[in-house]
Amino acid sequence: MCGIVGYIGRREATPLLMQGLKRLEYRGYDSFGIATMGSDINLFKKRGRISDSESDAVALAGYVGIGHTRWATHGEPSDINSHPHTDCSGRIALVHNGVIENYAELKKQLVGRGHRFASETDTEVIAHLIEEHYNGDLREAVEKTLPLLKGSYALLVIAADDQRIIAARDCSPLVLGIGDGELFAASDMMPLLEHTERIVFMEDGDIAEITAGEVAIYCDGARVERPVELVNWCVEDVRKGGFAHYMQKEIFEQPQAFYETIKAGLDDHVADMIKNASEITLVACGTSYHTALIFKYLAESLCNIPIRVEVGSEFKYYPPPLKGLVIAVSQSGETADTLAALKMAKVHGCSTLAITNVQGSTVTRIADRTLLMRAGPEIGVAATKSYTAQLAALMELLDARCEGAFADVLSHAHLAIGEVLLRDIQQAVALCKGAEHVFFVGRGPFYPVSMEGALKMKEISYIHAEGYAAGELKHGPFALLTEQTPVIAVCPPGSTYGVMVSNIKEMKARRAPIIALGTDGDKELEEIVDVFIPLPDTHPLVQVLTASVVLQLLSYHTACALQRDVDKPRNLAKSVTVE
Ligand code: AGP
Repeated sequence: MCGIVGYIGRREATPLLMQGLKRLEYRGYDSFGIATMGSDINLFKKRGRISDSESDAVALAGYVGIGHTRWATHGEPSDINSHPHTDCSGRIALVHNGVIENYAELKKQLVGRGHRFASETDTEVIAHLIEEHYNGDLREAVEKTLPLLKGSYALLVIAADDQRIIAARDCSPLVLGIGDGELFAASDMMPLLEHTERIVFMEDGDIAEITAGEVAIYCDGARVERPVELVNWCVEDVRKGGFAHYMQKEIFEQPQAFYETIKAGLDDHVADMIKNASEITLVACGTSYHTALIFKYLAESLCNIPIRVEVGSEFKYYPPPLKGLVIAVSQSGETADTLAALKMAKVHGCSTLAITNVQGSTVTRIADRTLLMRAGPEIGVAATKSYTAQLAALMELLDARCEGAFADVLSHAHLAIGEVLLRDIQQAVALCKGAEHVFFVGRGPFYPVSMEGALKMKEISYIHAEGYAAGELKHGPFALLTEQTPVIAVCPPGSTYGVMVSNIKEMKARRAPIIALGTDGDKELEEIVDVFIPLPDTHPLVQVLTASVVLQLLSYHTACALQRDVDKPRNLAKSVTVE
């Protein structure tokens, strides 16, 4: 969703801002803009993507600037609604990530006092309120404005002839990068990695006064110190490195993501949390919800531990009885629904654990403890290596709870993931790419694996896909099966093998082409299906991983065959920061 960047230093701001915005493109956006500070405010704003416009020719002068990628909420995507927004005089400019819930009321009052509005956005009220409070001290004006706002914000504000950027955060992420005689600000670390590894994570309620040489942070009117942390991601991690897409690169990075996450292990606090938890609830959205469901199946079937899993967006409004340990699973650590659920769990006195990929992200600030996945930055909107690293983290928890029962399996699992990366799936792609509807089916943990397979297919190929428990198809969806409706069935050996084979035969009898993922050498299965994709003969924990990777590859190659924008699928944002 929206992304913001800021720069102040000795270099021309415009190229740095544009580069920073490109690094934020992965979050999803529909328009962008920058402003630089000189004796006036210089402004450039545009609907569309940075690469679609004459953005290379943008040359606003100035050593201080702010920029924004907008994902429209209030007002359609347009040049005018793009940020930065300015006050009536055009001498104050700001970019905003978040939502101002009371903007309509504020706007009415401001219009009544003579302010002229250019856009339909909620954000513009902030510029006019700052204008009313501005008497030459920008920080003071921002400080007086913020209590009037209801909602969430990460803000960067500049004013003509004022050599500062004022930054503020409440419920939307904002990080500062400390360079050598220059400072950067951004919604996340991606734009900062090529400039510095020294990062300050602002906290809710913080206001930062940023000059080229220094940053001073205030909270509740008093100066506060926030630690400078070193990030362990580097700029190579955010480059495509010869792959056609970030998603392809990230799929191929999965053996490493899994291995690194397992190698990092659990700290003693986290291990104690999981060992001693009387009740365990996981809360998550999208792909992270699917990893949580897989964990539930594995924990209940392999270790006899009951687990509850909740969708983040439902949790806040229909909370389950809350007790014990609540685990929030979120790649970005910024998903609004997951954060809201976690806050509610804290209010109910639960102990809380965050599993996330992003150091310093909001979820790590809220939870009692954090288990950091080691996937490295994930740029493709579709989660791939973060999914696998989440499974690694969750399997580590399982292993700790079961006193090391899976340690050996987990230490070798990355090899099996590497093995399936080169599977030939072209026949399966050929069946899927012409389909309007596709079903993914499995049983036990392979049911949520199928749900994830379907989500991947939907989001990047735009083919309608559903993930089902294999036994459920005959309770309704059978009506949709034709020779044009491929079914992808995950059919490993084990207690459900026989019934899966029966289910597959039932689907075949309805003329659906079947693509089966089964164990290498399973001739019985190979003979009854249209396309057979072999998986290594491994432990069930590892089968979950290898099957998932093959399904990712199937979506990826299908989307490529259909010439979709794989890394930035339409309408989607990487980090969903609104409820
Ligand atoms: C998955 O491919 C999607 N990008 C999406 O479902 C994502 O998993 C969801 O929005 C949750 O994100 P999070 O893990 O960052 O909380």
